[in-house]
Amino acid sequence: MKLNKSLIFTICCCFIFIKCKIIEEKQTKNSSFKSGKKWLDTNGDHINAHGGGIMFRDGVYYWFGEHKTEGRGGNTTLIGVRCYSSTDLYNWKNEGIALQVVENPDSEITKGAVIERPKVVFNKKNRKYVMWFHLELKDQGYNAARTGVAVSDFPTGPFKFLKSYRPNAGNWPINFKEEWKTETENTPVKWWTPEWYTYVKKGGFVRRDFESGQMSRDMTVFVDDNEKAYHIHSSEDNLTLHISELTDDYLDFTNKWITLAPAGNNEAPAIFKDKDTYFMITSGCTGWDPNAARSFKAKSIWGPWESLGNPSIGKDAELTFHSQSTYILPVEGKKNAFIFMADRWVPRNPIDGTYVWLPIKINNGKPILKWYDKWDLNFFN
Ligand code: DGJ
Repeated sequence: MKLNKSLIFTICCCFIFIKCKIIEEKQTKNSSFKSGKKWLDTNGDHINAHGGGIMFRDGVYYWFGEHKTEGRGGNTTLIGVRCYSSTDLYNWKNEGIALQVVENPDSEITKGAVIERPKVVFNKKNRKYVMWFHLELKDQGYNAARTGVAVSDFPTGPFKFLKSYRPNAGNWPINFKEEWKTETENTPVKWWTPEWYTYVKKGGFVRRDFESGQMSRDMTVFVDDNEKAYHIHSSEDNLTLHISELTDDYLDFTNKWITLAPAGNNEAPAIFKDKDTYFMITSGCTGWDPNAARSFKAKSIWGPWESLGNPSIGKDAELTFHSQSTYILPVEGKKNAFIFMADRWVPRNPIDGTYVWLPIKINNGKPILKWYDKWDLNFFN
């Protein structure tokens, strides 16, 4: 009997010890970036903010991203856009759902729609937080190709959905030649032929969608030094990027826009400005599979944009280290310090997707990405 009691006591102690160890392990503070590994938030759960972007406000970074769920259907939006906050970029507190999908089948953001790549910016004039995102309507695959906008008085939300649409209806891009506007040529039946390339470059797809508005899929939003904001998205069946100016309240398009890299098949645009140069990093179009990133630079947001090729170097450079760009984060208080943020998608169980964060170096006017198993912000010192 005595032996049994002490045995039970020992087992209990072991159990408590193991439990404490597990909790301790889950709550360990992060002090570096370890790309591609599970990234635990301050509750010990893997961060669920895919295709994300970051907004900095009053000393706090807010990370917004797609809340993915388990299983093959986990890429449709069943919950919404999740928000995390951090003051050091390593340790993130779950702030809950910033934009929630609704149970109403008549809503454009009904549960089961697809909300991707949310980006939040702060508007200094009206002191509102504005979220733009790629929206696909429920049960329509990727055919709707819309951009959606929501607004909040607080950084962590709740965000109120305002509208979604295909932008720039009835407006030509400012880099569109006069004679292209009246072309009547039909779309060449065969894609990727020399005639077809010429057709895309001379704005065939822009003309096709002129009345109804231009398609808008993978996107980001960028606020310039003068507080002007721009919406950058893949359009024309993901063939061409469009850069559009937003209105002063950031809630609409001014209809001033350009096309970039026609027929270049760029997705996942991410942009940053270093001194007086704009740099953009994008991916090719291979669904959830990684491919080689591309990079561009320009002295004006309206171009001309110069293509700089693949920014990645070293092992797995051709696959962007098995990831796809989502955002480029300027580190507050540091000069020339930019973090390339990317996703390692896991389509068979999207919630398991991990994050690749790498420092960007500018070498001879070109952004360079190199793999580090582990790095921290001292890299920029
Ligand atoms: C690649 C895009 O970059 C993702 O955001 C997502 O839309 C997938 N394609 C869907 O296949």
